Amino acid sequence: MALWLCGGHHTVPQEETVEAFAGLVAEGTAGLLGVSNQAMWRVERARALAAAAGLPGYEVLQYQHSHLRPRLDVPSELFPDGSLGHAGPELLGYLRAEPVLTLVACSPLLAGAYVRQDKPLPADYDHPGTPARLAVPRDVARETGATVNQVVLAWQLGGRAPIVPLAGASSTAQLEENLSAVDLELTADQRDRLDGAH
Ligand SMILES: NC(=O)c1ccc[n+]([C@@H]2O[C@H](COP(=O)([O-])OP(=O)(O)OC[C@H]3O[C@@H](n4cnc5c(N)ncnc54)[C@H](OP(=O)(O)O)[C@@H]3O)[C@@H](O)[C@H]2O)c1
Repeated sequence: MALWLCGGHHTVPQEETVEAFAGLVAEGTAGLLGVSNQAMWRVERARALAAAAGLPGYEVLQYQHSHLRPRLDVPSELFPDGSLGHAGPELLGYLRAEPVLTLVACSPLLAGAYVRQDKPLPADYDHPGTPARLAVPRDVARETGATVNQVVLAWQLGGRAPIVPLAGASSTAQLEENLSAVDLELTADQRDRLDGAH
């Protein structure tokens, strides 16, 4: 079982959290430690504290991540300085630099917004990079005969960093479509185009 630290208002010293989580691993309650909605500096600090004490640290990061990228500067009650809940540039670089880490990508299909009129993109995706980035999975879907959702999931699954899409489904048809993404092999050229559009 994975144990997650999710968000929070940081009233507990990190040393205390690190020791408490390690204790749960030691007693067998948790097998794997994960973290969500935290600044990368806090994740790295917690992992450094754990390593220095010879304790298990976070290995799984759970953040919202899809092919389209949101603005990260929109304040909210939980994140007054802008979103820490999305996989931003710091997280993606950290993931490549630390092979022990895996990203669990929440909302990879943006709740269906790639393909559904009834699911508009969230407001933080309303920026000039979105149309350019959205065009590429649509092109790759035409080239491969796959659906746009499958292209997005295949792109996450086979990239340079380990990513596990946490895709939701509310029908068997959606589940089957999404699961079939594991069979879609993207070419290096398609990956370059998907990675590079902004
Ligand atoms: N840690 C965090 O901060 C965080 C943040 C966000 C989400 N999460 C978690 O991540 C998990 C997934 O989030 P999510 O539900 O937003 O994921 P998602 O995969 O982006 O969206 C799933 C929804 O998209 C629609 N959908 C799925 N497959 C489809 C398809 N093939 N074609 C058309 N529409 C399709 C369905 O909506 P309909 O039901 O309307 O058909 C489905 O319920 C959840 O367990 C959530 O709790 C965690």
